[in-house]
Amino acid sequence: MPITNVQELLVHELAEIYDAEHRFLDGQVKMVHRATDHELQRAIENHITQTRQHIGNLEQFFRELGQEPRRETNEVARGLVSEAEQGIEEAQSDILRDCLIDAAVIKVEHFEIGGYRALITGVRLMMGQSVALDLLEANLGQEEEAARIAEQSAEGLLQKAMRAEVPEQEGMVDKINRLRGRLTGQ
Ligand SMILES: [Fe+2]
Ligand SMILES: [Fe+2]
Repeated sequence: MPITNVQELLVHELAEIYDAEHRFLDGQVKMVHRATDHELQRAIENHITQTRQHIGNLEQFFRELGQEPRRETNEVARGLVSEAEQGIEEAQSDILRDCLIDAAVIKVEHFEIGGYRALITGVRLMMGQSVALDLLEANLGQEEEAARIAEQSAEGLLQKAMRAEVPEQEGMVDKINRLRGRLTGQ
């Protein structure tokens, strides 16, 4: 669709974020059942509720602009979701899958933060302090909070994954010693 003025530019950006929110909602609904860490699961469940609100806020924003809500395919969002889905299938243990899911959340939230920040700059210039601006700022605040929570969980999840690898490494050492003993006749 051609973009010929700033209003159309804002609607274009809005339609892309609106599409991204739908894709992330579907992605989270699928992903939450694959997470095994309770805190991670709870954080995603909470953000699923928030994402539904984000979609509602964007619909209200469309109406503030006198437009019908519409989605414009967001290729980055589509890519982020399919990368996450692929990683989830490739992960060979629950804890590695949890680490992957958490990393996917961090990437998605930062992408959303960028989108909202860019849109907010335009809306502030065009509409000043307004209901529309409040709606976007509410969404941005929740994306920032979700990113912070996922980032805080990352280290603990990775440490858990590293601890889970230790017995396997010990097993390997035992195997080598046994093999060495057999070769040397001890
Ligand atoms: Fe969102
Ligand atoms: Fe989000």
